[in-house]
Amino acid sequence: MRRRCRTSFIMRNPALFQPIHVGTLDLSNRIVIAPMCQYSAQNGCMNDWHLIHLGQLAISGAALLTIEATAVLPDGRITWADVGLWNDETESAMGRVLESIRRWSDVPIGIQLNHAGRKASTEVPWAGGRQFAPNESHGWQTVAPSAVPYAEGEVSPLALDHDGLRRIRDAFVASATRASRLGLELIQLHCAHGYLLHQFLSPLSNRRDDEYGGSIENRMRYPLEVLEAVREAFRGKSVSVRVSGTDWVEGGWDIDQTCTFAKMVEDRGCDAIHISSGGLHPAQQIPVGPNYQVPLARAVKSAVRMPVVTVGLITGFEQAEAIIATGEADMIALARTIVYDPRWPWHAAAELGARVRAPKQYLRTEPQRFQGLFESE
Ligand SMILES: Cc1cc2nc3c(=O)[nH]c(=O)nc-3n(C[C@H](O)[C@H](O)[C@H](O)COP(=O)(O)O)c2cc1C
Repeated sequence: MRRRCRTSFIMRNPALFQPIHVGTLDLSNRIVIAPMCQYSAQNGCMNDWHLIHLGQLAISGAALLTIEATAVLPDGRITWADVGLWNDETESAMGRVLESIRRWSDVPIGIQLNHAGRKASTEVPWAGGRQFAPNESHGWQTVAPSAVPYAEGEVSPLALDHDGLRRIRDAFVASATRASRLGLELIQLHCAHGYLLHQFLSPLSNRRDDEYGGSIENRMRYPLEVLEAVREAFRGKSVSVRVSGTDWVEGGWDIDQTCTFAKMVEDRGCDAIHISSGGLHPAQQIPVGPNYQVPLARAVKSAVRMPVVTVGLITGFEQAEAIIATGEADMIALARTIVYDPRWPWHAAAELGARVRAPKQYLRTEPQRFQGLFESE
């Protein structure tokens, strides 16, 4: 239905701005902010940088803001400067940031929980990102499903025994409990980009010969156990999973296995699935380009009923609208795009003919040619 506003702005009811439910969460549109590591924490504690970064994104008009990959244990950090949620100090530091944001924005906020496994103990990317050996000041011994390093020449991870698996699963649960106490509305379990839970899924990194390795059922066992435990700890709130749809390496994790995994997580009460790709193996060949991960999301969408999120080089308003309108995915996630243009959802709404939420302090800043664009938060 078309509705003419006070000026030339024509309302068109675009698919990108239709509301959607993710578990118990009501989202006002289909735009989510993907998790983005800032490598700026001290001993896992958030600080003013995170308030600036998350604060600007909280008033972007996107329907959901996802906090960066957050380590459930110190040895689960990708770098020494990752955010964590493993003790009272990290919880209260995150609490301070959230309290400030909450005072001014009611955007739903989720958190990505992660353990980096064999990809932990590295330098921050802008300083080169190399692995630190355990005897270096910013380094520690990494763990993984099997004693197989990510890249040649790296210090081998220790293969986790059953006590180690229990310790890490319990850490995910403890972080989920802290996330619930902080009032976070969604947990995204990080099973993508070559981190620990993905390392269990992929036959390239999982060489175990016990019940956690070998067949796809065995490789999925640990991520599913963690999901079930997190689901239980985060009762009444929404849980999603981010998974790599493929390793982009011959003989690795692929889209058929992803579809099987997606059905299994849905059966265990997962509320949405977010399809990214790659990150597990240095030999990956990724055909990077606009929409390059959309076919992976479309394949998963035909296997499950829960909402499917796509991500990766989505920059255009019509591009995003077409993905949702043609049913290739239910939501789009933005990372680089929304840092480059933190008002992307406003511009998309203006271009596509929708209304978008804006803070009351900004209502008078509505562009004259788009009168009727803003709804009050
Ligand atoms: C600065 C930066 C940090 C990122 N950190 C994370 C992260 O914490 N967790 C994650 O799953 N992906 C992370 N990613 C990947 C993004 O979430 C996203 O999947 C990817 O950048 C593709 O989307 P885009 O083309 O909109 O940037 C990061 C990307 C960037 C650019």
